[in-house]
Parts: sequence; structure tokens; C-alpha cells
Amino acid sequence: MTKKADVLLGLQWGDEGKGKVVDVLTPRYDIVARFQGGPNAGHTLEFEGKKYVLRSIPSGIFQQGQINVIGGGVVLDPVLFRGEALELENSGTALRERLKISKKAHLILPTHRLLDAALEKAKGDTRIGTTGKGIGPTYTDKISRSGLRVGDILEDFPAKYAKARDRHIKRLESLGEKPDAATLEKLEKDWLEAIEYLRTYDLIDSEHYVNNALKEGKQILCEGAQGTMLDVDFGSYPYVTSSNTVTAGACTGLGLAPGRIGDVFGIFKAYCTRVGSGPFPTELHDATGARIRDLGHEYGAVTGRERRCGWIDLVALRYAIMINGVTQLIMMKSDVLDDFDTIKACTHYRLPDGTVTDCMPYSIDNAGIEPVYDTLPGWHTDMTGFTSESQFPKEFADYIAYLEKQLETPITIISIGPDRRQTIIRQK
Ligand code: GDP
Ligand code: IMO
Ligand code: MG
Repeated sequence: MTKKADVLLGLQWGDEGKGKVVDVLTPRYDIVARFQGGPNAGHTLEFEGKKYVLRSIPSGIFQQGQINVIGGGVVLDPVLFRGEALELENSGTALRERLKISKKAHLILPTHRLLDAALEKAKGDTRIGTTGKGIGPTYTDKISRSGLRVGDILEDFPAKYAKARDRHIKRLESLGEKPDAATLEKLEKDWLEAIEYLRTYDLIDSEHYVNNALKEGKQILCEGAQGTMLDVDFGSYPYVTSSNTVTAGACTGLGLAPGRIGDVFGIFKAYCTRVGSGPFPTELHDATGARIRDLGHEYGAVTGRERRCGWIDLVALRYAIMINGVTQLIMMKSDVLDDFDTIKACTHYRLPDGTVTDCMPYSIDNAGIEPVYDTLPGWHTDMTGFTSESQFPKEFADYIAYLEKQLETPITIISIGPDRRQTIIRQK
């Protein structure tokens, strides 16, 4: 019988812990497929005392036997991909036989990265705070129908590349950021070598691959990058990334019809973080925010930037659950709150005109949104060694029940530490 594909995606502003949970869930699946984003992602996995950060390669790669697919909705930087792949191969992870790359994925050129930096500079105070990986300019080329795709490297590639590069250089010139010839030559040489490396992988028509697999009864997990509040349509626009991070992005990014989507796992931290610029209603600028950052090691996996920290935002989470059709929730990093006297949860926003709402407004851009909080008791218990939910202290069990009621969705997995084993799958 034809199966449905499950989706796992972030409900906040990214870095919820997607990598860790995809790795934990992978043994249930035959295929893990990334559907959007690029090396702006940093998905961290920890097991057997080692830590790995994946950017473009799906987080199912460390388990045994599954096929991992880089889908057509992804943007791929060949240089970063080669670096990531070689590192994995050197650490003994079988890669080549287990990784397939969609011909429809778009290529990030060196000039896309230069454009990303130039456009950020031109924005001045209104800059997005991007990861600098060329994501925006690459998706811009895709939408304006002038991008280069992985499949293009198989035919007449040098001419296609030169055309795109020259167009980018003109644009850089218009921004006053013309790169010098030597820099460009070096970047280009490295990039073209990485294209040759990419050519040695299995480049596939991923939409056929995943649909045929479902028909054969295979189980697929679709892995998202970033988070719902960074979605280009539904996030805190314009402070977002340039792809659809939501469930619909799994449909367009992999060629799955909406009816082929099964469970949607929505993942969130027991608090909230954001990296880069843009609105963040529950952000804490005080000692509590700094404490969460320290305890949660909230520094970016890709850029090392400090993550902004705050309390959990149930207004944003309800919105994300609605947009994604989340069927199961996964709560991460609850251990970070193990030693707090009280914990706050934002249930409503008070808008600048005094209205109180539990519904995400058109814009959360203007300061002046005031979070309305419930305060809950902390649990003062080190949960990092727990193996069963029966060990949860009452206050923590109450916190879970409170969230499930507020969010009208069951929390089925709880993460209590970065390691693969520090994961509690709740009894249904
Ligand atoms: P992703 O981008 O969603 O995959 O998340 P990141 O890897 O960028 O950030 C999550 C960080 O939290 C990583 O450093 C993980 O190792 C770590 N982490 C994941 N789950 C937990 C948890 O339950 N507790 C703690 N303390 N750390 C966690
Ligand atoms: P993962 O998959 C957190 C943020 C950037 C910036 C905005 C746009 O690890 O959760 P971009 O480079 O995409 O043009 O930057 O989006 N951002 C992320 N924040 N986690 C991520 O990925 C992110 N990817 C992009 O900080 O604010
Ligand atoms: Mg991350």
C-alpha cells in the first residue's frame, strides 16, 4: 500500500534541535529527505561522546542502512558540501552509497555569497543578519528563473556558469562591491573543483524517487531546516529566510502531493531563541535571558553568534501548529530549565492599541507588543539522566500537561539533553 511521508520541522526561529530528533527517529524510516534551506542550517547530533554538525546532508546519515536525499527545494553550495562530505567519510561514515542528490536543487555560486554580504551591507540598520551563505540571492535567482541547478552540471555547464557569474558581477558593481580578479579566480577554481566532486554522487530525479519509494511501501521522513517563524511567507517577514520552511515546503521541495503527507512532527524548545535581527516578542534582555543562554549553550552552530533567548511563546507556537498541521509535538531542551524557581509562558500579546490577543497579528515588527505571561512553578530536579516519564517531577509533568492544553496537540517526545540517548518517547 502506498505510504505517506512524515515531516519533522521547527516551530520557532530555528535551532530547535531538529538534527538530534531526526537522528533518533531515523531507525523507524527507510529514507530521510531534506526539503529546503541550505548551509544556513546547522543541525547538531551527539552520540558516543562525539558531536557532529550537518549543514546540507540529512541527519539520518549516521544510522545504519537508510538512504538520505538532498531534495530539490534545497540550495547546495558545492564547496561546503564537499567539506561536509569529506569530513564524514574521514570519520568512517559510509556516505556515497547512502546519499542521493536531487538534480533540481539549486547551486549556490561564490558570487551568491558575495551578493549576500553586499546586500546586507546595503541594508545598513535594517539588515537581516543572514548567515552569509548566499541563501537569499540563490533563491532569488531560482524565483527569477535564472538559477543554476545541480542537473545543469551534466551538460554545457561552463557556459551556463559564466553567464550567471557575469550577471552577478554586474550586480555587485552596481552595489559598489566589485570583487578583485584574484579573489574571484581563487573562489571560482575551488568551486569548479567542488563541482567535479559533486558529479561523482548519485544525482537523481528526487520527485520520482520519493514517490516510487512510497508506492513500494517505504517509510520516509522529511527533514526541515530553519523554523516556521523564519518561513518566507508566514514568518516574521522581512526578517526571515528565503524558503518555505513549513509543511507545504516538503510538498514543493520533494514533489510530494499534499495528500501524501502523514504525521507532522513539530519541534520546539521549552523556551525560545532567535539568531539574527528581527522581532522576538518574548526576548529577555536581563539576567534570566543570559542564564538561559549559558545553560542552553545558545551559540549558533554555523556562525557562532550568540542566540537571543526568551520565554516560550505560545501565540507563535499555536500559529506554527496551525500553518503546519502539526499532529505531534516534540519538546527539546527541557533540562535547560531544570533549576529555575518559576517558568513563564506567553499566552497572549498585548498590542500597542491595548487589545489583548492570542492570535498572531499581521506584523510583530513594531516594538510595543507586550507579552502576557502565565507563571508556572519550576521543578528543581536534574532530569538529564532520566530514562522514563514516570521519573518526571510533578511540576514538570504539570508543565507538559499545561502546554498540551494550551496547544491542543500531544507532546510525544521530550528531550532532556543533547545526546541521542537523552530522549524520552512518551507512552501513547
Ligand atoms: P537544529 O538546527 O534544529 O538541528 O538545532 P541546533 O543543532 O542548531 O541547536 C540545538 C542545540 O541544542 C545543539 O547544540 C544540540 O546539541 C543541543 N540540544 C538538542 N537537544 C537538547 C536537549 O534536550 N538539551 C540540551 N541541553 N541540549 C540539546
Ligand atoms: P537551522 O536549520 C536559526 C536565520 C539567520 C537570519 C535569517 C536569514 O539550524 O535551524 P539566511 O542566511 O537564511 O538568509 O538568514 O534566518 N537563520 C537561522 N536561524 N537556525 C537556522 O537554521 C537558520 N538559518 C537561517 O540567522 O536571521
Ligand atoms: Mg541549527
